[in-house]
Amino acid sequence: MKTSDLSFDAFDEQNSPEREAATGMDNVLTRRYFLKGAAALGATSFVTTAGIPSLASAAHHSGNHAHKTPFTPLEASTEDAITLPEGYTSQVVLSWGDDLTLENLPFDHTTRGTALTQSHAVGDNNDGMDIFNIEGRDVLVFNNEYVNLKVMFGNNASKQPETDDDIRKGMLAHGVTIAELKESSNGWSLVKGSKLNQRITPMTEMDIVGPARASDLMKTSADKTGTKVLGTFNNCGNGKTPWGTYLTCEENFNGYFSSSEGESFKQNAMQKRYGIAKKGKDKGYGWSKIDDRFDVSKEPNEANRHGWIVEIDPTGQMPPKKLTALGRFKHENAECVVNKDGHVVVYLGDDERGEYLYRFVSKNTYNEGADNSQLLEEGELFVARFHDNGIGEWVSLNNAGMPADEAMVYARMAASKVGATTMDRPEWVAANPNKAEVYVALTNNKYRAVKDNQPLNVANPRKENPYGHIIRWKPEAGDHAASHFIWDFYALAGNPTVHNGAMAGSKNITKENMFNSPDGLKFDSMGQLWIQTDGKYSNKDGFAGMGNNQMLLGDPNTGEITRFMVGPKECEVTGLTWSSDKKTMFVGIQHPGEKGKGKSHWPEGGDAVPRSSIVAIKRTDGGRMG
Ligand code: FEO
Ligand code: CA
Ligand code: CA
Repeated sequence: MKTSDLSFDAFDEQNSPEREAATGMDNVLTRRYFLKGAAALGATSFVTTAGIPSLASAAHHSGNHAHKTPFTPLEASTEDAITLPEGYTSQVVLSWGDDLTLENLPFDHTTRGTALTQSHAVGDNNDGMDIFNIEGRDVLVFNNEYVNLKVMFGNNASKQPETDDDIRKGMLAHGVTIAELKESSNGWSLVKGSKLNQRITPMTEMDIVGPARASDLMKTSADKTGTKVLGTFNNCGNGKTPWGTYLTCEENFNGYFSSSEGESFKQNAMQKRYGIAKKGKDKGYGWSKIDDRFDVSKEPNEANRHGWIVEIDPTGQMPPKKLTALGRFKHENAECVVNKDGHVVVYLGDDERGEYLYRFVSKNTYNEGADNSQLLEEGELFVARFHDNGIGEWVSLNNAGMPADEAMVYARMAASKVGATTMDRPEWVAANPNKAEVYVALTNNKYRAVKDNQPLNVANPRKENPYGHIIRWKPEAGDHAASHFIWDFYALAGNPTVHNGAMAGSKNITKENMFNSPDGLKFDSMGQLWIQTDGKYSNKDGFAGMGNNQMLLGDPNTGEITRFMVGPKECEVTGLTWSSDKKTMFVGIQHPGEKGKGKSHWPEGGDAVPRSSIVAIKRTDGGRMG
């Protein structure tokens, strides 16, 4: 099979290193807290009376709680459409290939664009996003994670990029799009030619800041100082800082590097752990054919310059910065919280089977109105260990005994050294705006209890975990910088119409709301938790009755989960934000018709090429959306 035919998961599987099991968990702290139990932290609401979180302790269903966003639970759907409850409408606002400029060139369904048209158009596969209010205008900033080769090059015999222009077009469809929007009686639309419209691509120059700046590990022939890098790509989830910058998160950066040595290329241990250029292959993008920096045999350090969080000033006044203090791994999103003592805490997931959950705590504190722009350049990075008494702890990567630059460039190795808990693919992390409480989606993990380095553990208790789960925790004393937290399961997804026992899911999973592979998580300003899925849409066997990927609303207090929206065929639902007046919710629909077999023609219908798009959802009564 060609690497371009593989999903990111399957590509990782081919690249997946056999590595040693994480350090055992029975250290002194574990024993101390085990004796004391969760009650020692003065919190018992999430744990059983025995103080041990278990499947039985997952959030309980309560049928009578009234949501602030009122709607009748939506049925599952397999339609090639956006489906919503009665009283809600949706409208497509932006799609891959929409021209951001006044040239106003329409998307060409035959050629699917050129490198030139793509350079000034919306990127492909929109993902994490946020709205920024700049000079009273709503400016949408969103990631363009990757490109669907089978859709973008569906007219090539190979279904792959064939010319240099094809490769460049694919490259320029990655990165970040910044687009000013306006609302009129006809709904939301792009302000074409706005001076705020911008594309950030794999060719945009950015600064390297933090512990790995100027490190030998970051130097290449084009940048002998290790302080500047071109571009960002595979931008997955996102974050937003209180000082008005956007955080974009580099996830499967490994899939873009190949070797001119071909199959005889031998990975070193670091390249193995990050899945770079196994057998010399990339994932089919072909970037090394037009740019030597993507050839690991010519530029072995270039891959060290990707896999970071990048801070972007949407006004364009500050150049983008790669934040090396937040570690290098397959970043999902970056959930930013100002702690009660002013330190900025960023929660981070590393989305690969058996990788870890992280927390960054800034050295300095946030001061409203002051210059906070350097707060994410210095601080301490921790990784989570989950203990079997409902307690968790954050362990500093400083304990790994590695030089600071190396511990950040090879954060996965540092985290293994300090005994982090292997997780079932940490996707988005979301912090409750109303209390010190944080949620993480663990999307699925077919290696759990299958590979020796990923045995069952308390936080990841199901073999092969086909459905995924959501864990939540409360930091000790409401302090996001504290060393310990208490945790439990918010939901274990499952299929109660097919299974009994653990695979049926937790009590708050029913035949009416069942889903698989929770991925996007975001709280709205009213404290409601929105859950987006990126899972199996076969709608049969273990997934029967779940339909297409979807978005659900979770009540953090009662545990109740209600389906709100279903996406078109073969899509994933990812990315969520609200207009400044909160009356519109923007939702991302990524890779409709991803298999390239003509199953989806969304959004235009007919014979149209399916296009990743952002939709605006409103209440017909004009009420708030979050
Ligand atoms: Fe880009 Fe882990 O999702
Ligand atoms: Ca995701
Ligand atoms: Ca996913």
